[in-house]
Amino acid sequence: MHNRIFVNLDRPLGNLDRNVFGGFAEHLGRCVYGGIYEPGSPLSDASGLRLDVLDALRRLKMPLIRYPGGNFVSGYRWQDGVGPRAERPARTDMAWHVVESNQFGTNEFIDFCRRLDTEPYLVVNAGDGDMREARDWVEYCNGAQPTALVRLRQQHGYEAPHRVKYWGIGNEVDGPWQIGFKTPQEYARTTTEFAKVMRWADPEIKIVANGVCNWDAADFVERGQLLLEQAGNLIDYLALHWYVDNSANDFATYMALSELFEDRLSAYEGLIRAVTVERKIRRPIGIAVDEWNVWHLDQLHGAGEAAVIYNLEDALVVAMQLNAFIRHARTVRMANIAQIVNVLAPVFTSPQGIFLQTIFYPFELFSTLAGPTVLDIAWDGETFAAGEHSGVRRLDVTATLSADRRQLVLFVINRSEVAETATQILLAEGRFDGTIKAHVVNGPDIKSRNGFTQPEQVATRGFDVKAGGSSLTLAFEPHSFTVLVCPVA
Ligand code: AHR
Repeated sequence: MHNRIFVNLDRPLGNLDRNVFGGFAEHLGRCVYGGIYEPGSPLSDASGLRLDVLDALRRLKMPLIRYPGGNFVSGYRWQDGVGPRAERPARTDMAWHVVESNQFGTNEFIDFCRRLDTEPYLVVNAGDGDMREARDWVEYCNGAQPTALVRLRQQHGYEAPHRVKYWGIGNEVDGPWQIGFKTPQEYARTTTEFAKVMRWADPEIKIVANGVCNWDAADFVERGQLLLEQAGNLIDYLALHWYVDNSANDFATYMALSELFEDRLSAYEGLIRAVTVERKIRRPIGIAVDEWNVWHLDQLHGAGEAAVIYNLEDALVVAMQLNAFIRHARTVRMANIAQIVNVLAPVFTSPQGIFLQTIFYPFELFSTLAGPTVLDIAWDGETFAAGEHSGVRRLDVTATLSADRRQLVLFVINRSEVAETATQILLAEGRFDGTIKAHVVNGPDIKSRNGFTQPEQVATRGFDVKAGGSSLTLAFEPHSFTVLVCPVA
């Protein structure tokens, strides 16, 4: 059967917010200590930042990074992590049951972000923390008046305000595992009061409130509704979290997860829209999927917590999630892959070096090549069935256009484990105008992984395709992710 992708350069779907290529760093396992920060290592600079990690992360061009948690933040005191290191207290971290040294904190994280040319996104403790602490943290970071908190920041070596723009209120408050779990009504009240005083500390900030992470709880509609009704004019984003895996060890079922992403994003878009219209909410409220990834739960515990090693099929599922965010560009205005180093991460370290996980490669291609306009494309052709789903298209496709309309980029996942997928790409108007650069992420088989001894089993390869006219035919490799960068006129 023939597969066709129909592209109309004059049919935009929306503007892509580059914040969908964000990251997340938590005090968990070896993300911070031994990942981002390893003082004394020959691979680190004088401030303790691992230079090889910085170099790898620079390739991902993340526009923002969320910090310091995650579950960790629900028991975190930001004051413990600022000031002279020798005076910082070690504390029991009740989220992950380890000792937190607090040697890395707010200012170190912001320095790290500046080195990466990325925006810090801080999450305040709405677990066992209070709104006074939250608003003090905003003032410590962003204040410019001669207050005690601003002087404290200056004594710590930071004369100018950090101007932290993005602030989250709490983490996964709908999960019973969270320090300070909250009912829908409790969290709606908490957010209203926290957001109010945090905005009084700095009216310019953008606020992210928790939407859903616990998709099995039967109250997520109520949660979203109450939150929007009460705090809709104070917040800018509602956050969703999800982690997926191939627990059935069935490739087709795994590849059909695109339907789940679609369901969740569409459901939440509808909810936001309904309450916004009914309550006449004036602020545009976006979705922030501020934790997402593949997480093999059997790799939860071990030498490093959540030190998952990814394979090729996981990389395809990462690409599918990014395609889902692009397809929902009108509403998904932020997304943060969880996490950035060692813990559920594209970059993996040892004291001697790093390797790039399979999921690094699709993320890099999306983040560096996606254009600012998402196109409303159509495609048809072969389908597959898996579990409760049938008629799932073999290809998973999105397309973007550059600002000057000269560069079309197609992001295509071939979800066949065994077959090449011959495909015709048709332009409704205009023509292909010169050499197309193809970038393909693939490996020997769907279970191929990278590691210190075989660092590039799965990686990106490139080739050129000559094209002219309004159509192009090519075959996508089995179990592959392909990006076509097409000059168009
Ligand atoms: O990213 C790992 C953990 O997953 C985070 O701490 C938590 O928010 C989520 O459950």
